[in-house]
Amino acid sequence: MRIAIVGTGNMGEAILRGLLENLVQKTDITALTKTNQSAEALKSKYGVNTGISISEVTDADVIFIGVKPQSMDEVLPEIGKYAKKDSLIISLAVGVTTATIAKKLKMKKPIVVRAMPNTPSLVGQGVTGLAKGKDALETDLVRAKELLSTIGIVVIVEEKLIDVLAATSGSGPAYYFYVTECLIEAAIANGLDKETAQLLVENTFLGSAELFKQSDDDVVTLRNKVTSPKGTTQSAIEYLERKNLRKIWTKAFKAAIKRAKAISKA
Ligand SMILES: NC(=O)c1ccc[n+]([C@@H]2O[C@H](COP(=O)([O-])OP(=O)(O)OC[C@H]3O[C@@H](n4cnc5c(N)ncnc54)[C@H](OP(=O)(O)O)[C@@H]3O)[C@@H](O)[C@H]2O)c1
Repeated sequence: MRIAIVGTGNMGEAILRGLLENLVQKTDITALTKTNQSAEALKSKYGVNTGISISEVTDADVIFIGVKPQSMDEVLPEIGKYAKKDSLIISLAVGVTTATIAKKLKMKKPIVVRAMPNTPSLVGQGVTGLAKGKDALETDLVRAKELLSTIGIVVIVEEKLIDVLAATSGSGPAYYFYVTECLIEAAIANGLDKETAQLLVENTFLGSAELFKQSDDDVVTLRNKVTSPKGTTQSAIEYLERKNLRKIWTKAFKAAIKRAKAISKA
């Protein structure tokens, strides 16, 4: 299977690394970038074929598109010109629908799948959502899933739910970093030094995530196990509930979905 990656930046490189470590040979991948400088850097780091001309997608069975959404207008017609008619085209661009991609490729019934990875993919622990376009088959989704499983777990959803998935797992790392940041700041404001605060928070969250993964208890039970009646944790949780954090969270989530829809229409 020949694979081309058009746009091998943060996300494209994560996929390149995952594929090389788990599934394909160096000689089967071509990594394309805009500049010669990036292409040369990727060649010396991974030993794969690299280039700056989209015409190099001609023999690819699978084409990943890892350019920024605003570069899609520029690269899609080019990909459409050179891609094989049965290539599986997997786009990573946030907010660009499979219908828009298909239209701009100007191919007859292109096989398009949309992928929504997140940044933990950079360390092989990502969550990627997948949705298929009109002319893609279930078998195409299976093939895309196999390829993207090299950077973490893969969840298949209908395209109408991809914005919800994006607000959950796509933005999720930022929510986690935000809560981490707030807790570190609070610890420092109350006397801990930065290094100690970071060590405590980082390992508490890592340990809690692992406990959640390994435990048979659901998340509420796990929380209740730390929250003894009239204890210190209960005071903190009750304060957050009184301040309506749950409602604020729902509104923040809706804001992310609303923005994704606006980007799709732009
Ligand atoms: N970051 C996230 O959390 C996240 C999550 C989900 C989806 N995504 C999506 O993933 C995509 C990539 O994001 P990123 O953060 O990886 O971007 P990035 O680091 O800026 O990488 C973009 C890449 O595209 C290349 N490029 C630009 N124009 C090109 C062209 N005309 N032909 C070939 N290559 C071209 C750039 O080459 P040069 O290096 O030469 O400039 C670079 O390698 C975006 O569409 C984004 O919406 C990102």
